[in-house]
Amino acid sequence: MAKRYVPCFLGVFVSIAVTSLLLQAEAPPPPAVYIFGDSTLDVGTNDFIPGCLARADFYFNGIDFPHSKPTGRFSNGLNTADQIAILLGLKKSPPPFLYLLNHPSKFKQSILQGANFASGGSGILNSTGLQKRSISLEDQIKQFSTVRSNITHMTGSEEATDNILSKAFFLISTGSNDIFEYLLNPTPPMSAPEFNDTLISTYEYHIKTLYELGARMFGILTVPPIGCTPFARAVFTGNNSCFELAQDFALDFSLDVAILLENFSSQVQDIKYSLGNTFLMTSFFMGDMLGFGLKNIAAACCGNGTYDCNQTASFCSNRDEYLFWDRFHPSQRASELAALTLFGASEPLVAPINFSQLLGVDI
Ligand SMILES: *[C@@H]1O[C@H](CO)[C@@H](O)[C@H](O)[C@H]1NC(C)=O
Ligand SMILES: *[C@@H]1O[C@H](CO)[C@@H](O)[C@H](O)[C@H]1NC(C)=O
Ligand SMILES: *[C@@H]1O[C@H](CO)[C@@H](O)[C@H](O)[C@H]1NC(C)=O
Ligand SMILES: *[C@@H]1O[C@H](CO)[C@@H](O)[C@H](O)[C@H]1NC(C)=O
Ligand SMILES: *[C@@H]1O[C@H](CO)[C@@H](O)[C@H](O)[C@H]1NC(C)=O
Ligand SMILES: *[C@@H]1O[C@H](CO)[C@@H](O)[C@H](O)[C@H]1NC(C)=O
Ligand SMILES: *[C@@H]1O[C@H](CO)[C@@H](O)[C@H](O)[C@H]1NC(C)=O
Ligand SMILES: *[C@@H]1O[C@H](CO)[C@@H](O)[C@H](O)[C@H]1NC(C)=O
Repeated sequence: MAKRYVPCFLGVFVSIAVTSLLLQAEAPPPPAVYIFGDSTLDVGTNDFIPGCLARADFYFNGIDFPHSKPTGRFSNGLNTADQIAILLGLKKSPPPFLYLLNHPSKFKQSILQGANFASGGSGILNSTGLQKRSISLEDQIKQFSTVRSNITHMTGSEEATDNILSKAFFLISTGSNDIFEYLLNPTPPMSAPEFNDTLISTYEYHIKTLYELGARMFGILTVPPIGCTPFARAVFTGNNSCFELAQDFALDFSLDVAILLENFSSQVQDIKYSLGNTFLMTSFFMGDMLGFGLKNIAAACCGNGTYDCNQTASFCSNRDEYLFWDRFHPSQRASELAALTLFGASEPLVAPINFSQLLGVDI
């Protein structure tokens, strides 16, 4: 497998991860995982939204998923939500909350183990993804608050629910779509500093709301180098270079989120978090592409920078060698590299502690 290309620090980690899989019988059960954000973590939420324009439940998406099944993941196979769940000892991401709503017999048992609320096209701001009918972070958190009340219905007390949720893992990846929409069409028109401030203060509000609903353990992913996506290279610069303005916004955002979390965790003493700097780690993969077994870091494997992946698009056969599956999203292999980095690396890629340390995964 392509894993042999993984360089030193990840290589050690991979062999340890395999060992820990063998020891899994003795390991404590994985924590409940509640997942929020955008298409990087969506495992089929949008399949259940009538008229949603941000969907991936069609071929060639899922070509490397078991049975080559398009599930709604924006990937050739598993995505980042799955890869993180696997390192926690699960088979894949918990199912979409909207799937569980449609399968009442599974609902109660499943929500105790987690749920995935992430919706492709969504962002931090309510306005982001509105036209695509994506579910905003605000509404994802509202859905989680009903889940909280459902858990309390089962446990019989708010205290018991607090106790359960304090041990759960809250994973969030969002912000990219806000920046893209701002750059494509600033509505309402806002200056760049105003936009940054609104974005970060709205994010703070959402994270505090999750805290009030019982979340205590956070894994937060920053905005990756979206100026270097095949989309940005084709649509913004048109000469295949990275779009520097989008890079600046993404980098600024990751710095701002770091400050936000430092500040918030000093105000409330009882949270633990790990901030995965996907901007830096993806730049790191791009800067040493051969070291990571990647041969193409600029083009989409399926479709191209201008057109989405679909059944009539052309696609590459060496998918593990591409950073990008389609014009926006990482390949299954790139999401695996990211998850391994989140669990096995150190500052500044993941700070102040890595996911293994946060989650007590014994590796
Ligand atoms: C976002 O939308 C929700 C409704 O889902 C609303 O309650 C909230 O006030 C809105 N927030 C802003 C900042 O407009
Ligand atoms: C979950 O909670 C919501 C809001 O309290 C309620 O409407 C819904 O019926 C509950 N679902 C289940 C399966 O108990
Ligand atoms: C917001 O981001 C832009 C783009 O990077 C930057 O030029 C601007 O200084 C930032 N503003 C603030 C207040 O951080
Ligand atoms: C590509 O285009 C951008 C502006 O669209 C420009 O700033 C940049 O210098 C160009 N790069 C190359 C290599 O031509
Ligand atoms: C930290 O949080 C407080 C309270 O919310 C706020 O007033 C302050 O501006 C924040 N500081 C920074 C650096 O974000
Ligand atoms: C992108 O794909 C579309 C649809 O297949 C095709 O028409 C177009 O020529 C491609 N663009 C480039 C730059 O290859
Ligand atoms: C696939 O995408 C191309 C380019 O956007 C479009 O012309 C075509 O109709 C799409 N095909 C299907 C089956 O959706
Ligand atoms: C990541 O966390 C693990 C604990 O699980 C620790 O052993 C390891 O040293 C950390 N990695 C780095 C590079 O700090």
